Amino acid sequence: MIEVVSAPNSVLRVTSQQSGVRGKIQVPGDKSISHRALFLGALAQGTTKVSGLLLGEDPRSTAACFRALGAQISPLNSDQITIEGVGGDLQEPLDILDAGNSGTTMRLILGVLASQPGKFFSLTGDRSLRSRPMARVTKPLRSFGAQIWGRESGSKAPLAVLGMNLTPSHYFSPIASAQVKSCLLLAGLNLEAETIITEPERSRDHSERMLKAFGADLRVEGNTVHLRGGAKLQGQTVVVPGDISSAAYWLVAASIVPGSELLIENVGVNPTRTGILEVLLAMGADITQQNYREVTGEPVADLLVRSASLQGVEIKGAVIPRLIDEIPILAVAAACADGKTVISDAAELRVKESDRISAMVTELLKLGVDVSERADGMEIVGGRPLHGCELQTYEDHRVAMSLAIAGLVAQGDTEIAEVDCIKISYPDFMARLLEVTSGWHGD
Ligand code: S3P
Repeated sequence: MIEVVSAPNSVLRVTSQQSGVRGKIQVPGDKSISHRALFLGALAQGTTKVSGLLLGEDPRSTAACFRALGAQISPLNSDQITIEGVGGDLQEPLDILDAGNSGTTMRLILGVLASQPGKFFSLTGDRSLRSRPMARVTKPLRSFGAQIWGRESGSKAPLAVLGMNLTPSHYFSPIASAQVKSCLLLAGLNLEAETIITEPERSRDHSERMLKAFGADLRVEGNTVHLRGGAKLQGQTVVVPGDISSAAYWLVAASIVPGSELLIENVGVNPTRTGILEVLLAMGADITQQNYREVTGEPVADLLVRSASLQGVEIKGAVIPRLIDEIPILAVAAACADGKTVISDAAELRVKESDRISAMVTELLKLGVDVSERADGMEIVGGRPLHGCELQTYEDHRVAMSLAIAGLVAQGDTEIAEVDCIKISYPDFMARLLEVTSGWHGD
């Protein structure tokens, strides 16, 4: 039984799922690709048409910022939108730009703003975003000559930016972060010289793919991206595939609830994002890819998943950036697997929308899981029965959805407080949860 009680900030009650998770489902548009379609559509000359856009709160934050910067973006009340771009010349906004809860919006837009000579911008976000580290982008931007001010020496929002003529150089990023890479690439678009970014491991490459499609002069060599600025971006048609990070909840749900068989259609399977599939397969999951195709430069497939008995694994190293957002739900899979799962090299999780290591360890312990915290991950000994209880989300969408899936296999009722955050990346998650478990008892 799935029940949503009390508004405005809802509590989700999930009862142990007796029958399998079954049916056919489509997940909402990929969040990273949706942001990039809005960014590049707004910066390009002419019209960009986007279909399959994620109508979550995070892309809405990006759209609101670019409207304030002069782009015309049709209302986000349908996943088909049209953008009339500014052709690189942004309007100086009348007010503070608000990135809401979205780290991608804030970090990527800093690159755009820092390279608009003579224009002034101020920028903030919600409580979670104002506590997240921005030095990872403000530091390299400053090394290119950017003028940025903010709390804690420019490492926390609110931030102020005075656009400058930047001089790019070769930046060796200490972390594998698509947000850092994309921020610097966007800054480089306006610059004559070459911007070069090398990262320690390959992070998601949606920016590189979409920048090329919009006409940027860009080439990738291993973990290094070269961008020669000055090319005029032209509006394009972008079809956004389903988000593998949202599909991850269903991949794990159908794996751990006995008697499940679920087809998840139209999922983006870009190799820089498919760490979740590799790890679940290594754990013994029964997942098959069907109907593999390419849609506007991104690989897409349907994923068929059936329940399976999972085994613990080690998750570390180069795969981490390729599944970073899926670690909370992988922790739930590990709790249901036989044996030990060790997750390491994932300290980045501590600076996401919440400290996801601490959040997941605290909440899984309440459910009765044998789990311990490590500085850079966690250790889970799976196989103990989970017991329903009252849980918290830390207002983090991925923690909330992971706990909802854990509730399906916990004995009795699990009550999860403050689940409204789910609308950041998956506005109809609750409706889909109800559909695949078919047992709605909402108000
Ligand atoms: C994202 C990159 C990742 C990811 C985030 C979205 C992006 O962050 O966790 O949810 O769209 O570029 P990092 O770049 O900080 O790893």
